Amino acid sequence: MTQDELKKQVAEAALKYLKNVPIIGMGTGSTVTHLINLLADCDFKRDIEGAVSSSIKTTEHLQKIGIPVLDLNQTGDLEVYVDGADEVTPHKKMLKGGGGALTREKIIGGASKKFVCIVDETKCVDVMGKFPLPVEVLPLARSYVARQLVKLGGQPILRENYITDNHCEILDVHNLSIIDPIALEKTINNIPGVVTNGLFALRGADVVLVGKGTEVITL
Ligand code: A5P
Repeated sequence: MTQDELKKQVAEAALKYLKNVPIIGMGTGSTVTHLINLLADCDFKRDIEGAVSSSIKTTEHLQKIGIPVLDLNQTGDLEVYVDGADEVTPHKKMLKGGGGALTREKIIGGASKKFVCIVDETKCVDVMGKFPLPVEVLPLARSYVARQLVKLGGQPILRENYITDNHCEILDVHNLSIIDPIALEKTINNIPGVVTNGLFALRGADVVLVGKGTEVITL
């Protein structure tokens, strides 16, 4: 199977977590794109009252298939949030933000009772950090934050020609070996000017579905 076929397969396996859930939380990325395409044709779509979306891209896709997009301030906490990841550990800690939507993803994931992470097997790692860690920053703080990230042993590179949905910038931090993801998540988030970073360790996933070969494994 190609990586894209694995993504579609795992998205299919996530559908059952959305059945009988009136308001769903929806992530961002190519795996989630498969999930939304599958939702468009599934028999329980008409039972979905709406979704809280983690990005403009996901919002547009949900609206295109006729699912109303709701404001998290109005919905309150959600039952289920489904999203992809760039790396995930056996302890269900994740590194996310390759698609730049990390801040809204972290907020909606945090506001959801169950976080379902959907990945293909290439995303499974023992130690995170091979994928550059995205850090969303206020534009005026970019250089200051970059200097602090260098002190932490990373090599931050500005994501060129990219502005987030929150009108901020992203530093992709290379060469981090993330032995203690909870500590690093807190340390980076404490740097003034950081909106959030792509470590999802304080609040990891509750369920990880991994597309591996012809099957889907549940962690
Ligand atoms: C979006 O900002 C990311 O956190 C995505 O969830 C992550 O990059 C996974 O993307 P794919 O499903 O495209 O691999």
